Amino acid sequence: MFLAHSCLYAMLLALGTIVMANEKKCDLVGEVGHESVKELAVLKRLEPLFGQSFETSVDDGKEKYTYKFRVCQEVSSNYSNAGLLQIDKQNEHVVVVGRINDTHIISGSEWIMLTYMGGENYDSHCGRERRRAIVMITCNSKTLASGFTLLGEEREKEKECSYTFELDSKLACPPEDSHLSVGSVFLITFASVVAVYIIGGFLYQRLVVGAKGMEQFPHFIFWQDLGNLVADGCDFVCRSKPRNVPAAYRGVGDDQLGEESEERDDHLLPM
Ligand SMILES: *[C@@H]1O[C@H](CO)[C@@H](O)[C@H](O)[C@H]1NC(C)=O
Repeated sequence: MFLAHSCLYAMLLALGTIVMANEKKCDLVGEVGHESVKELAVLKRLEPLFGQSFETSVDDGKEKYTYKFRVCQEVSSNYSNAGLLQIDKQNEHVVVVGRINDTHIISGSEWIMLTYMGGENYDSHCGRERRRAIVMITCNSKTLASGFTLLGEEREKEKECSYTFELDSKLACPPEDSHLSVGSVFLITFASVVAVYIIGGFLYQRLVVGAKGMEQFPHFIFWQDLGNLVADGCDFVCRSKPRNVPAAYRGVGDDQLGEESEERDDHLLPM
């Protein structure tokens, strides 16, 4: 029974692998193992978007187009390796603008530029080179991906023309560094040390020393003394009126006006 299950599982796994291998995805320059490490790293950042589709329409009065873009997967199986298609809304004519098997990718601090090259050749413009689509992905921490729009088409150059698009995504944002300042790190460390001291000391006093009640606090006598000392200090510094006449003052007065004064004033008494 167990063997049969394992066998079925292995077969499913193998099938899955075959299906996945057949599914076309972004292919960078070079054979597997000889691709640019940098490009692979940036491509990996875009992985959450793989397979997502985007669409944008433009209508400038005389030309009406829809552009369909898919991240690292074919837009339609009818167009081999097509990653970005242009569809003429008037006559349904489809042009492959860029292909995923000719992917180029670079990144900066707050952007990733994904280029699909190897599109259909221009009829007359740009030296009849192959079309290419450039998707400029810019950092927007509020969205995984949105705002796909056509920036424009450049086809007045002799060569190196392009269709340029924009897309907002948080994947293009710089990796978030921890926002902890030196001060907060210090405070957290201090609080942890205090917590460990109190809990550890408490357990020690209770379990090892066998203390009860308030005595369970570590170094209870010391902290009590310290507390009293601090309270005295506060009393001395902050109190505006003396609580009672200082004993020392009375003492000094009594000493000085002791018997001597009594003797001196004797004659003033009526009797
Ligand atoms: C990409 O795929 C297209 C269509 O399948 C093919 O004609 C082209 O040669 C391929 N390009 C590269 C760079 O492999």
